[in-house]
Amino acid sequence: MRAHVVPDYEAMSAAVADVVAQSLAEEPSSVLMLPTGTTPLGMYRRLVEMHRSGDLSFAGATFFNLDEYLGLPPDHPASYHVYMKENFYGLIDADPARVFVPDGAAPDPEAECERYESAIKEAGGIDVCVLGIGRNGHIGFNEPGAPFDSRTRVVRLSESTRKVNAADFEADRAPECAITVGMATICESREVLLLASGTNKAGAVAAAVEGEVSESVPASMLKTHPNARLFLDEDAASDLGQGVVG
Ligand code: F6R
Repeated sequence: MRAHVVPDYEAMSAAVADVVAQSLAEEPSSVLMLPTGTTPLGMYRRLVEMHRSGDLSFAGATFFNLDEYLGLPPDHPASYHVYMKENFYGLIDADPARVFVPDGAAPDPEAECERYESAIKEAGGIDVCVLGIGRNGHIGFNEPGAPFDSRTRVVRLSESTRKVNAADFEADRAPECAITVGMATICESREVLLLASGTNKAGAVAAAVEGEVSESVPASMLKTHPNARLFLDEDAASDLGQGVVG
């Protein structure tokens, strides 16, 4: 796992957007897995700018999202469907037939998870997986303790994650459960790019980079991945010791 430390959020966003754009330039039919949240907004903004200036097409690509809240219909304002439409898919030339976000309102969530996992397989697996990281080290909604061999499934969100995400919901009550792509599915991606910005991620980054590979710190699994890179701003890297960055 290599870590690229850049001065600030804008530099981090630019660096990751360039890697994604480069992958698409080399292979227009790339399969991407994408996160939501605050961290990737700058990356999406830059990719949209590249598209608008005519430098980048997403028409041949396939997109999978990492997760969605359980019980939220796709038009719920706090759903990841709406987030992705407003910040990315609705602003580029993505083919709607190749855009996949788990359906949090599916009548049979278990069947939805199986359907999602099969769709990833049918697409030939993930070429580039972009991840954020939770303050507790989660990736996707794989909270501490998530088995490394897990697949797309329904999970219970930790109280700390629900608290961090509460502001998006009425009465500050985030859903209790979500559908997330599993740890094994993430790890099988051919390339993984993890983004982190801000001092509130520094502890999780240091635990992932410098601690043991352990299910109690989900992001630490990336140390076993042959092609995983971290893009950190200086604040997110501020708890790292010497010699781990290269
Ligand atoms: C969201 C996701 C989460 C976030 C993480 C960081 O799709 O997969 O793992 O990446 O919670 O969220 P932010 O970027 O809002 O700090």
